[in-house]
Amino acid sequence: MKILIIGGGNMGLTYAQSFLRSHITSKEDMMILEKSPERAAQLAQKDIGTVYDDAQACLRRADLIILAVKPQDAPTLFASLSPMVDAQQVFLSIMAGVKISTIAAGLGARKIIRAMPNLPAQIGRGMTAFTSSEEVTRIELVMVQNLLNTAGKTIYVEQESAIDAATAISGSGPAYVWHFMDALMQAGRQMGFSEAQAELLVSQTFLGAIELYNASNLSCPEWIQRVSSRGGTTEAAMSSFRDTDVHADIIRGAFAALHRAEELGGNS
Ligand SMILES: NC(=O)c1ccc[n+]([C@@H]2O[C@H](COP(=O)([O-])OP(=O)(O)OC[C@H]3O[C@@H](n4cnc5c(N)ncnc54)[C@H](OP(=O)(O)O)[C@@H]3O)[C@@H](O)[C@H]2O)c1
Repeated sequence: MKILIIGGGNMGLTYAQSFLRSHITSKEDMMILEKSPERAAQLAQKDIGTVYDDAQACLRRADLIILAVKPQDAPTLFASLSPMVDAQQVFLSIMAGVKISTIAAGLGARKIIRAMPNLPAQIGRGMTAFTSSEEVTRIELVMVQNLLNTAGKTIYVEQESAIDAATAISGSGPAYVWHFMDALMQAGRQMGFSEAQAELLVSQTFLGAIELYNASNLSCPEWIQRVSSRGGTTEAAMSSFRDTDVHADIIRGAFAALHRAEELGGNS
């Protein structure tokens, strides 16, 4: 299966590397179409497949085409590709906010998969939600899911609207975690730890808490209860968080992200 990645930026390169690392494809079957000459030269040095600057030379040979350009570049890209698109080709778009109907109309394509990955995909720890048009076969869907799985974990969602929700939870989610980490690091520094010590205390605490959570069947409230003894230190912090309703604040933030995703996609 020949794969063409259009846009060899952060995400395009991430996918090219994770496909090759997992041996799911070979560099002989990998093509990258990149507009920027400087970026194309960098990509050519990485030995990850053949780099092209012209769709004429590569589009028709691809079975799967991954759209990894910025959403604002989509209209120009669609206009240049549409005369060459074959209806049997499968398109996988990771462009935030660009709907399947927009891609179908812009490209004249029918087999479209839309995915929303997140930044930890860069280290193989991504979380991706994806959905597809009806014309994509089960085999094609499994093939694309296998590719996406090389960059982390995936869930298939039936409704395209769930892609906006995934954007608000897992897409923007790493920033929420870093916000919480940053506050805890600041508290650590204020308590007298050096910057490096505060970073280690916090990042290892997050890592440990998440791995412990993943290794058990307990819910978050159950774990909190386990570590909070009456009148103890954890209970003092949790009580302060409840006073200022940090929990509800986080939910409000996630919904603000959802509304913005809907607005950007023209759904609101
Ligand atoms: N980064 C993330 O964590 C993340 C998460 C979820 C979804 N996404 C989505 O992933 C997509 C790519 O993001 P990114 O951060 O990888 O962007 P990026 O680093 O800017 O990469 C996009 C690349 O595509 C090139 N390009 C633009 N138009 C092109 C065309 N017509 N033909 C060939 N190449 C073209 C750009 O060149 P120029 O620089 O010259 O324009 C750039 O090198 C976006 O749509 C974003 O919404 C990203």
